[in-house]
Amino acid sequence: MSTHVLLLAPSANRVYAEAAIELTVAEVSVFAQTVLAGKVRDVAATTIAGLPCVGFDADELSTHDISMLSNVSSSYALFAVAGPDLLRPIEQRRLAWFDDDLITIPKYAGKTNEQFTHLLLNVTLLSSAWASSLVEGGLRVLDPLCGRGSTLNQALVYGYDVAGIDLDGKDFEAYAAYLRTYLQRKRIKHKLETIPVRRNKRLVARRLSGSVVARGERTLGIDVVHADTTAATDFFKQASFHAIVADAPYGVAHGSRTVSAGLRRSPLQLLADAVPGWARLLRPGGTLGISWNVHVARRQDAAEVLAAAGLTVLDEGPYERFRHRVDAAITRDILIGVRG
Ligand SMILES: C[S@@+](CC[C@H](N)C(=O)[O-])C[C@H]1O[C@@H](n2cnc3c(N)ncnc32)[C@H](O)[C@@H]1O
Repeated sequence: MSTHVLLLAPSANRVYAEAAIELTVAEVSVFAQTVLAGKVRDVAATTIAGLPCVGFDADELSTHDISMLSNVSSSYALFAVAGPDLLRPIEQRRLAWFDDDLITIPKYAGKTNEQFTHLLLNVTLLSSAWASSLVEGGLRVLDPLCGRGSTLNQALVYGYDVAGIDLDGKDFEAYAAYLRTYLQRKRIKHKLETIPVRRNKRLVARRLSGSVVARGERTLGIDVVHADTTAATDFFKQASFHAIVADAPYGVAHGSRTVSAGLRRSPLQLLADAVPGWARLLRPGGTLGISWNVHVARRQDAAEVLAAAGLTVLDEGPYERFRHRVDAAITRDILIGVRG
């Protein structure tokens, strides 16, 4: 057994301010109680030479265990404590089916922070029946409030098939344009088309559909719909996703764009209307991870919405420790529901 320390990327402090260490303790604790169960213990905040870090005790870590820990959202470097004043660096094995800039290039009002998007995807997947496949791929992830694609881009970097829905036409177009330009500029083989979706000869949605060949070897599906998320089951097959990850509207204006009636629903009402459909899209053992602003919906109320859709809410241990302040108007929290 030896003690390990995880050093956080400097950007984590800018994103989360004081909460960075506590959020990482909670995230590593979810790794510890799922894919690293019995191997990683006593996850806690610590300091090395005055630098705040996350420490834990671990038995011999396999290559697979190290791959898991390398993908902790705020991880910068991992060390084993080799003696007093002596740290042994452990080579990181981050998933990188695309370069990091796929995630970092887009900048727009209303973007869910990249590190937080990564954290929410991790915690959601780790809580599913496919937790140990996190680093292997072969998973299909939906963001039913995908905006301009921050979750989709993170899931592509992980080597997964991705799907999204958003009701904002400008977001849909911006994501389609960004992805096409990015893939062309990087000379990455892909086939993407925007197609109209008709029902009874009436146009009901637009769909960005196709595939991309990551690192020349893995073909990943892309399927993004411009539609109201409360109609998600009209566009995707039931029980077809391993995980669904959504950052709900914060109930505060991002810029001054005109919004349609669907976009004006209160965040809790939107969840109440949409979660039953999302739950049906999950495979048994699949998980729904949502984040939202607790100033506009209480945790208890959001949990009731998930439970009413037949999901088992994970509400103990580290799952209670993700609440953090974003700014004066937003305090964000996470809830995970599992489909039985
Ligand atoms: C907090 S933002 C998510 C941002 C996204 N994660 C990103 O980084 O681009 C919430 C999203 O929900 C979308 N939305 C709100 N109501 C919707 C609805 N009824 N159907 C589909 N999308 C909706 C908004 O357009 C917005 O893009």
